[in-house]
Amino acid sequence: MTNPIVTALVEQGYVELTPEQHRVDPSLMVQANRINHRLINSLSRFGEAAAVWRSGEHEADLFLMQRTGSSGTDQKAFLHIAHDLDDHLPPFITSSLTQIEIDDLKRLRFFFFELHRCVGAVVRGVTQRYPALFPSDIIDRYHAAAMVSQPYATSCLRGLAYPAQANQGGAKAHFDRDFITAHCGDEGGQLFGHTSLTGGVPLPLSPKPGNILLFWGIKAMLLSEGAVMPLRHSATAVPNVERRALVFFGQVDSPEPVANAQQTWEQYWQSRGVDNPSVPYERWFQS
Ligand SMILES: [Fe+2]
Repeated sequence: MTNPIVTALVEQGYVELTPEQHRVDPSLMVQANRINHRLINSLSRFGEAAAVWRSGEHEADLFLMQRTGSSGTDQKAFLHIAHDLDDHLPPFITSSLTQIEIDDLKRLRFFFFELHRCVGAVVRGVTQRYPALFPSDIIDRYHAAAMVSQPYATSCLRGLAYPAQANQGGAKAHFDRDFITAHCGDEGGQLFGHTSLTGGVPLPLSPKPGNILLFWGIKAMLLSEGAVMPLRHSATAVPNVERRALVFFGQVDSPEPVANAQQTWEQYWQSRGVDNPSVPYERWFQS
């Protein structure tokens, strides 16, 4: 991984990768976008039964979640693909899937692992350029998170779809609760970064078609003890236009809660001044 990518990610908190840099097959990215649209539409027939709840989680976080957004009436759909999807699908859903849906799910899982590999290469570059930034086993933790099923520490691919609605609300400003996020396939809206570097002016950050935007989540801040900052971001939706995106949430497996995580978090918020309330991170904050 070339140093400019790594340096930009560490110093500004985000970086956009071109196909030459991320090395994910462009035709696979196009295919994944089509599949995302097709699958969310067809799987919605299962209704709430498609929202799969793993033990240890405080909410359903696997397969298809249909939620109501901040306006109270706008609908959103999230399709979550992870390595253990097959192990957790209810038998009545597995037996009802069409061959096209089964093939689509397999392709999305392949795409998930391609994004995992790409992001892992960048994380490895970070550890080489900045060896003291994260714990020395961070690469092992990152790779483990793609293959273990652990509450709040299992990497996943999210296909998101906000249907075309007059009152579609987008996403309010927030931090991702993962280690690192790869955002791609962005259509029908705009992603904004809220960084102190812009003096509070939202920065348009939707990646160009075929590109991937990488940015840090909260765990990167915790594990680096504040040396890297998670990117605060929001998304707008266009009224009566469907919004779609594919987002990879790269996690890190953690056998133990992060030492002093709560303290690090409080110091961070105090240094920022007034902002939104923090997002509780469940077991990561049990110290
Ligand atoms: Fe996000």
